[in-house]
Amino acid sequence: MMNSLTLRRPDDWHLHLRDGAMLKGVLPETARHFARAIIMPNLVPPIVTGSQAMAYQGRILAALPEGAVFEPLMTLYLTETTDPADVVAAAQSGLIKAVKLYPAGATTNSHGGVRDLTRVYPVLEAMAKIGLPLCTHGEVTTPEVDIFDREAVFIDTVLDPLRRAMPGLRVVMEHITTAEGADYAAAGGPDLAATITTHHLIINRNHLLVGGIRPHYYCLPVAKRESHRQALRRAATSGLPCYFLGTDSAPHVDALKEHSYGCAGCFTATNTMPLLAHVFEEMQALDRLEAFTSLNGPGFYRLPVNEAQITLVKHEVPQVFPEKILTEAGPVTVFNPGYPVHWHVSL
Ligand code: NCD
Ligand code: ZN
Repeated sequence: MMNSLTLRRPDDWHLHLRDGAMLKGVLPETARHFARAIIMPNLVPPIVTGSQAMAYQGRILAALPEGAVFEPLMTLYLTETTDPADVVAAAQSGLIKAVKLYPAGATTNSHGGVRDLTRVYPVLEAMAKIGLPLCTHGEVTTPEVDIFDREAVFIDTVLDPLRRAMPGLRVVMEHITTAEGADYAAAGGPDLAATITTHHLIINRNHLLVGGIRPHYYCLPVAKRESHRQALRRAATSGLPCYFLGTDSAPHVDALKEHSYGCAGCFTATNTMPLLAHVFEEMQALDRLEAFTSLNGPGFYRLPVNEAQITLVKHEVPQVFPEKILTEAGPVTVFNPGYPVHWHVSL
C-alpha cells in the first residue's frame, strides 16, 4: 500500500478567482498547492481585452499572500466584437494563454458571450494560425434541449462542426461531465484536450437531488448520472495526455448559493489534492495522478512542467477541511465529498 506520494507541483487549468474581496479570500487556497492556474475571465464586466487582462493579472499578483509563488495564466472572454489583432498581440506578448468561449446564457456571467459562432471566425482563424487554445464551455443553451443533454448536443452540433470548419484550431473542452465528452476528447488528436473537475469525479446527480436539494453540489455543467461519473473517473485516471485537471473551483458566497435562485459553482480549491489522491487510490491509479495534475496540462499548453514538488501523505486520522472559507465578501462553503479523506498535503 502506498502511503506517500511526491509529485511535481500541480497546476489548475480552469479556475475562477473573481475580484476584490473574494479574490483576496480565495487566492491563498489555490496558491497553497498549485503553481499556476488558467484564470477564467467571467468577471462582471468580463475580461475581454488584452489591457483588461493585464490589469486583472496585476490585481491577482497584488492579492497574493507574502511569499506565495503562483503564476496566473490569463485568458480573454470571447465576444462577437473581439478584435483578432488584440488577441494575437496579447498572446504574442505572453500575457494570455487561451481564449474562453461562453455560449451566451450558458452559465454564470455568460450573457456577453457568443450567440452566432460565425461572427467570431476571424478571431478563431487568427488563433488557429498562432496555436492559441480556445477553451470551450461546452453546452448548448437552446431552451428545448434538456439540461442533462446539453453537453452531448454541443459536441454534435457546435464543437464537431467548428473543428471541421477550422482545422488547426486547438480546443480544450472544459469541465467535461459525460462519457460522450470523454470519448470525443480521446478521439480528437493532439489539438484537442479536456479538463475534468474534482467534484465531477465524486458526485453524480443523485448527490445533488436525492433526500433534499444540496445547493453546494449545484454547478454547471450539472452533474450527470452515475455511468457518466464512472466514465470520467476512467478518463482522469487513464494517464492519456488529453485529460488534465481543471478544478472549475467557482466561489460564490453562501447567501447566493443557499438561495431560491442559487448560483452554480463548487468551491474545491482548498481540498482538491487530497480528494484527487483519494479518488486515484480508489481507482488503483495513484501512479497516474501526476500525469493528470502536473504533466498533461503543460504538455497541451506547451509550457514547461513545474520543477517544485509537493508530497501527499496518507494518515490514519482523516483530514479535517474547513467547512467554510471566510472572505471579506462573505463565507464560501468548501466542497464536502461526504466521506472521510485520509490524504494530506504535507508542505
Ligand atoms: C462557474 C462560475 O461560477 O463562474 N460556475 C460553475 O458552475 N462552474 C462558471 C462555469 O464555469 O460554468
Ligand atoms: Zn468554470
